[in-house]
Amino acid sequence: MQRTLVLLKPDCVQRRLIGDVLSRFEAKGLHIVAMKLLQVTPELSKQHYAEHVEKPFYSSLEEFITSAPVVAIALEGLEVIRVVRDMLGATNGLQAAPGTLRGDYSSSRQMNLVHASDSEESAKRELDLYFDADEFCDYSLVLTPFMRADDE
Ligand code: CMP
Repeated sequence: MQRTLVLLKPDCVQRRLIGDVLSRFEAKGLHIVAMKLLQVTPELSKQHYAEHVEKPFYSSLEEFITSAPVVAIALEGLEVIRVVRDMLGATNGLQAAPGTLRGDYSSSRQMNLVHASDSEESAKRELDLYFDADEFCDYSLVLTPFMRADDE
């Protein structure tokens, strides 16, 4: 079982798409184990996007990600890191396949609605950035027996 960090970015919140995006993750059978609305600060942005800080687009990315609240979500599931990345589609909404979240809702490289961790290492680092250990809820879903077999 894996966990991943998902961020519904300021464009998602401002466009009132939180419910639509969350319902896609719920319909897929992914398990929400932590969630909160928060304002990303410039400091948090630099930590989160450390690998992009030196890139030419970083100042624009920081301005965007701090421009309105985001929703941080910890999702749990089998192979959830890859599954969620597949659900998001390509980074650039113009290139994302129809049926993916970005393919269906975004026409932008920067305003691509949702961020998700790209590896186990990133997931751990990013979950630690957004959540304290006591913010994760340990509960089971009564529908799990109808979502997958015991040996999956
Ligand atoms: P995300 O998956 O959150 O990871 C880094 C973010 O930087 C990316 O989504 C986009 O929002 C943004 N991004 C990536 N490449 C570019 C680019 N070339 N120009 C502007 N923004 C970018």
